[in-house]
Amino acid sequence: MASLTIFGHRGSSGTHPENTLISFQAANKAGANGIELDVQLTKDGIPVVIHDERVDRTTNGVGWVKDFLYEDLIRLDAGQSFSSRFQGTPIPSLDEVLEWITSTTLSLNIELKTGYVSYEGIEDKILALLNHYQLKDRCIISSFNHYSVKHITQTDSPPETAILIMEKLVEPWDYLKKVGAHGLHIEWQSLDEDLMHNTQKRGIPVRAFTVNDQKEILKAQKLGCDAIFTDFPASSIQSF
Ligand code: G3P
Ligand code: MG
Repeated sequence: MASLTIFGHRGSSGTHPENTLISFQAANKAGANGIELDVQLTKDGIPVVIHDERVDRTTNGVGWVKDFLYEDLIRLDAGQSFSSRFQGTPIPSLDEVLEWITSTTLSLNIELKTGYVSYEGIEDKILALLNHYQLKDRCIISSFNHYSVKHITQTDSPPETAILIMEKLVEPWDYLKKVGAHGLHIEWQSLDEDLMHNTQKRGIPVRAFTVNDQKEILKAQKLGCDAIFTDFPASSIQSF
């Protein structure tokens, strides 16, 4: 059976507070091949790693990421709501996560959260950081906002890119050409054998999110997924 690449979704977010450095470190320790993380911009334009547009669900704060200055955002507690064991864990900047990644061999999937808030210049800021840390070759940039993906693909020597979709697209390979993107990241339930076969035979990698159930992980492997995103990289790896 073909090998399956494991990305820790928001790190090891089933066992650690999502999108924090300790969550990424746990995914690395578990033996994941890569990590996935979500990026937004603070009021002063700093790329930070957080999934929601608002801080309410994952921190002890209230409000929109875009309305926080970086120095205020990093004072929030992003660990306590997961477990008191992780009290005091901050929201990381993308810069510090990238710096840490250089000390590992992990691949990286940066998801641009530009669906609801248009963060002016986010794409170029991220490319500048990837260039600074020389991580472009290890990174896939994805987004549900395909204009963001297209923006990346139209730059000089872009990193690998992927569109994110929740549901089936008709002939996604043609659409991918329009966007200029390399890969398809698709919600696990929307994937079937035909879509997989017809996409992959055109040299397009197919990666599925978010696959946590052990039986489904084996199914994804059998189906020939190039990679999965999982909240539990440790137990996913043990299931092989
Ligand atoms: O990139 C895969 C997955 O993270 C997309 O959905 O909402 O978990 O960011 P979400
Ligand atoms: Mg994501």
